[in-house]
Amino acid sequence: MLLRIPGVYPPQDDTRLLADALAEQPFDARTRVLDICTGTGALALRVAELGAGTVTAIAISRRAVLTARLNARIRGCTIRVLQGNLTAPVRGEHFDLVISNPPYVPYVPAEDDRIPGIGMARAWDAGTDGRALLDRICAQAPDVLAPGGTLLLAQSALSGVGKTQVMLEEQGLQVDVVARREIPFGPVLTGRRRMLAARGIITAGQRNEEIVVIRGRQHA
Ligand SMILES: C[S@@+](CC[C@H](N)C(=O)[O-])C[C@H]1O[C@@H](n2cnc3c(N)ncnc32)[C@H](O)[C@@H]1O
Repeated sequence: MLLRIPGVYPPQDDTRLLADALAEQPFDARTRVLDICTGTGALALRVAELGAGTVTAIAISRRAVLTARLNARIRGCTIRVLQGNLTAPVRGEHFDLVISNPPYVPYVPAEDDRIPGIGMARAWDAGTDGRALLDRICAQAPDVLAPGGTLLLAQSALSGVGKTQVMLEEQGLQVDVVARREIPFGPVLTGRRRMLAARGIITAGQRNEEIVVIRGRQHA
């Protein structure tokens, strides 16, 4: 069972795709895991239950922090849940596995790159190209990865998989796509179809998007 305080992102297809990719990862009692953008804590709980040694989860929203802490207590998992912006709360620390399913939906209106400071949309809106958080994660994650560590990052193909790959490679990571799933547009994208088609991000009549999990491996 997973509790969810109103306003916190409910686990969805992207959460499940990343959860499935996690099952392929080796875990033992020494594995230190960081979940950036944790929401309900679903993914952090999954790695804890898969046998990770320590799990740290970060959320910007107080409601998400509370939700993740409550879920950890209900499930009997020990997870450190911190409030803050991406990797800021763990600067100077290093992790063997860093996972994230961040906001990645192109924002409407598209005239500027603002991202919402409050409210439910903060869970998905991510600037004009959907990369406001992805770019920051690509820039910050290598700093918190231990030598030999792995990043698993979920995103939509609408937000530039190639750009994520290039950014991570430029940081010295070995990059590949480890999972893909085609899913129908949810209510947010359905409501933005005209705008996204007008901007050339989707084709007219498109009703599905591909979500992917990108893996970046730090040299040992
Ligand atoms: C797409 S949801 C994913 C939630 C959860 N990881 C899952 O897969 O179900 C993205 C989450 O990122 C959080 N978030 C947005 N901006 C953030 C930031 N700058 N730092 C940390 N978390 C952030 C949102 O509050 C939201 O819970």
